[in-house]
Amino acid sequence: MVIFDGDKRVFKLDTDNTSYVMGITEEGYLGNIYYGKKVDSTDLVYAMRTGEHPFTPSKVPGEKISFMDKFPMEYPFAGTGDFRSSCINIRDNAGQEGLELKYKSHNIYAEKRKIDGMPSARGDGSMSLDIVLSDEALGAEVTLVYTVYEECDIITRSVKVQNTSGKEFYITKALSACLNLETDVSDILSLHGSWARERHIQRSKIEYGSYVTESLRGEPGHQDHPFIAVLSGNCSENCGDVYAMNLIYSGNFIARVQKDQFDKVRMSIGIHPEHFTWKLESGQCFEMPEVIMQYSCKSTNGMTNNFHDFFRKYILPSKWVEAERPVLINNWEATYFDFNDDKLVQIAEEASKLGIDMLVMDDGWFGHRNADNSSLGDWYVNEEKLKGGLKKLVDRVNALGMKFGIWFEPEMISPDSDLYRSHPEWALALDGREPGLCRTQYVLDFSRHEVVDYIYGRLHDILESANIEYVKWDMNRPIAEAASLSLPADRQGEVMHRHVLALYELQERLVNDFPDLLLENCSGGGARFDAGMLYYSPQIWCSDNADPVERLMIQEGTHLIYPLSTTGTHVADSPNHVNGRITPFDTRADVALTGTFGYELDVTRIAEEERNLIPAQIEKYKKYRNLIQTGDYYRIASFRENGRYDSYMVVSKDKNKAVLVYVQVVTDSNVLNKKIKLCGLASDKKYIVDDMEYLGSTLMNVGYIMKPLRGDFQSVVVEINCAG
Ligand code: DGJ
Repeated sequence: MVIFDGDKRVFKLDTDNTSYVMGITEEGYLGNIYYGKKVDSTDLVYAMRTGEHPFTPSKVPGEKISFMDKFPMEYPFAGTGDFRSSCINIRDNAGQEGLELKYKSHNIYAEKRKIDGMPSARGDGSMSLDIVLSDEALGAEVTLVYTVYEECDIITRSVKVQNTSGKEFYITKALSACLNLETDVSDILSLHGSWARERHIQRSKIEYGSYVTESLRGEPGHQDHPFIAVLSGNCSENCGDVYAMNLIYSGNFIARVQKDQFDKVRMSIGIHPEHFTWKLESGQCFEMPEVIMQYSCKSTNGMTNNFHDFFRKYILPSKWVEAERPVLINNWEATYFDFNDDKLVQIAEEASKLGIDMLVMDDGWFGHRNADNSSLGDWYVNEEKLKGGLKKLVDRVNALGMKFGIWFEPEMISPDSDLYRSHPEWALALDGREPGLCRTQYVLDFSRHEVVDYIYGRLHDILESANIEYVKWDMNRPIAEAASLSLPADRQGEVMHRHVLALYELQERLVNDFPDLLLENCSGGGARFDAGMLYYSPQIWCSDNADPVERLMIQEGTHLIYPLSTTGTHVADSPNHVNGRITPFDTRADVALTGTFGYELDVTRIAEEERNLIPAQIEKYKKYRNLIQTGDYYRIASFRENGRYDSYMVVSKDKNKAVLVYVQVVTDSNVLNKKIKLCGLASDKKYIVDDMEYLGSTLMNVGYIMKPLRGDFQSVVVEINCAG
């Protein structure tokens, strides 16, 4: 619900359990009054006051700058006295920077508008509020857009800037949202990592000054994640306060938590201002990516379930949310570049007998690519490898009763490619410098429309040429030297953002033209696993590391925000190709169970005993697939924290079914049975576990007895069913 109390000049946005409140001062500044548990009154202006009262510029004009530096500005602007971190800055055509935004008007409505050219959450009847702020002197109007998703306890926010000045100006900072909080929050939760080690959870203390998590890589990257949360100090998995922001954006971002001189905390997120300037002509509009914002008093498990419900209902392509995803086998770790049509068919033959649904042909099928140093951009089938062409191969795979999927890396160009030889100017490069290579490849200049159209044409033709039901869209290097020969000097700061817009345009065209295609995004593993990409692809390859122990930590961080059904999880070889760890085949499958499930190995070469386990693993996955895709996820114990074991469970929405996964990473000697306190069950329902009947409250408070497993890297999946 969205309420505007005209007498008090207060906006109140209510979800089922929370209230978000803003107020307009007598001068027209829009302040952030309150965010937290639901409150019933709009009589909250008092909470916006900054110390001595009345300390406002209209009463004490001599201290305007001191006011600006204290006031909890809803959308902080730079250059006019708020010295804390700002969200927006604009340089006018005389080179001056700074602005001052005041309330102009507002509008409450039910039909949410889609953000132009960018993914955003579907409205589906949720109430929205636009608050227009303006700077008359500059000639800028800034519209703050809020949509209230009541049942998920989520509010989305985005910002639109309109140039009303009659001249061009330059947006030099464009963050999407800010929150001003009291310091009853004391901790920060963020995700960090590296290649093969993505999205590990990090918890740190809020100190004076700023904590920043950011990316300048042209994508979120393996290293940081466009998410930030602050927590109350007592916050554990099930109790305590959490405020979280997740940005629906797949490029450079910054998320900041800043504790100021008055012990107040400001939290913000948006496009990174470094390598960003946007020239806005008079009359034009610039739209910023949307933020998913929430408060939960049920700690991180509460936050997670709000996010999961929200993603399933409003972000993921609706068609795929509950659809059964195919169990796939990908040939990357099976063959790398060393394959031909017969080898792929051999894998498919064996895989089809074992119950696998789809073969995905990974990197190396085009141009003359036999290593990672050539042919990107030459999206023509290598007929030396695939004799008789792609359709012939796909038909052979289909004849085995299997679907077929294919790999692309559309944003890249190899120096050793026909495309580069004919269009060297299509690669991003700083004028006069040799562009830097990474994985022996350059990045295409997607600010040029002819490049985007050309690449789309190639993808389109390949997909039309055979019965291809799945695409893995990869991106294997970060973007540097983001300069375009086709843009004028004052638009070079737009290249990074234009790349992201072109990426969205391409994926939009792809899913519109091929509505039945299953798109899986990927970026050297999970460097672009974000809300923006999930708008187009219901699943994303989570990491190049499928070692089940490492995956416990990667999946813990990923599932903190994103539904289990979005994570590409495969059973791979042992010793693991990345870290050499040797683990049991069934443990690898149990860890892959809470994802999209597939195989990343050569089924024709693995040991007979392992191959024989595959049908039962697939059967287990299919048994729980629907529950995992639609249920509530609860984290019970974290190997990252305790160094010994990991445990999580999924409970159906009606609380009649649940599945518990327990992985004993390090074995204990002479320990007593562990009591695992289950979560999310109905207290008063009776459940059958291991043929015994328990009350839900017993399982959640006294616990389920986990018998010790023998050996390291052991796992067990426990089924819990409501009795009768
Ligand atoms: C990185 C991906 O994460 C891998 O799965 C594989 O597709 C390679 N790229 C291929 O180059």
